[in-house]
Amino acid sequence: MADIKFYIETDRLILREFQLTDDVGMFELDSDPEVHKYLGNKPVETIDECRTTIESVLNQYIENGIGRWAIIEKLSGNFVGWAGLKLMKTTINNHIDFYDSGYRLIQKYWGKGYATEATKASLQYGFRQMNLKEIYGITHIENLKSRRVLEKSGLRFIEHFIWPEWHNIKCNWLKITKEEWEDKFLSQSFS
Ligand SMILES: CC(C)(COP(=O)(O)OP(=O)(O)OC[C@H]1O[C@@H](n2cnc3c(N)ncnc32)[C@H](O)[C@@H]1OP(=O)(O)O)[C@@H](O)C(=O)NCCC(=O)NCCS
Repeated sequence: MADIKFYIETDRLILREFQLTDDVGMFELDSDPEVHKYLGNKPVETIDECRTTIESVLNQYIENGIGRWAIIEKLSGNFVGWAGLKLMKTTINNHIDFYDSGYRLIQKYWGKGYATEATKASLQYGFRQMNLKEIYGITHIENLKSRRVLEKSGLRFIEHFIWPEWHNIKCNWLKITKEEWEDKFLSQSFS
């Protein structure tokens, strides 16, 4: 498998490519029913399911040049969860081949601003390094925290939609363009 590396530092976090050794952290994350409350799928039951997920993200790095990143807390060196951009290759809300900004954190790291810190850094990467024109975000309409993370990161609410391919969940659809991002954040640091 090609050796694709990412390495970004924010004030409190390291964002890097997934590694196979993240399987234990991924199991802590994805076996928690609270984490899955708004995700429309069930928690995993075996660590093998997490290894399959990691391998699929590593493949996305090769095929698409991007995929979600692992989040490491600088202070402890611990695996916190993941965040970042994913190329969506199936049609969602009449869009295809768009970049989605996502995140998922182990519960003990919630409420510290980590998801927002990681999301801001991934938007910077998307607009500066990848030169993307726009980035989207999708949340379950009741996932208020997640919508707040996207809005604090500069995305704006566009509309609600029903996601037929994903359990008919009612979702928020948010978006930020490169111009909007430049207006909001270019003069600020990304901590
Ligand atoms: C959603 C998630 C990533 C948020 O992570 P986090 O690091 O706690 O998020 P942040 O601390 O950066 O920001 C959360 C914001 O939501 C706010 N918030 C918390 N509860 C809220 C509520 N019930 N309603 C509205 N806002 C709320 C917080 O106050 C904070 O905003 P603030 O900084 O202005 O005070 C985390 O809860 C998670 O991993 N959940 C499970 C997976 C998931 O749902 N992923 C998103 C799928 S779309």
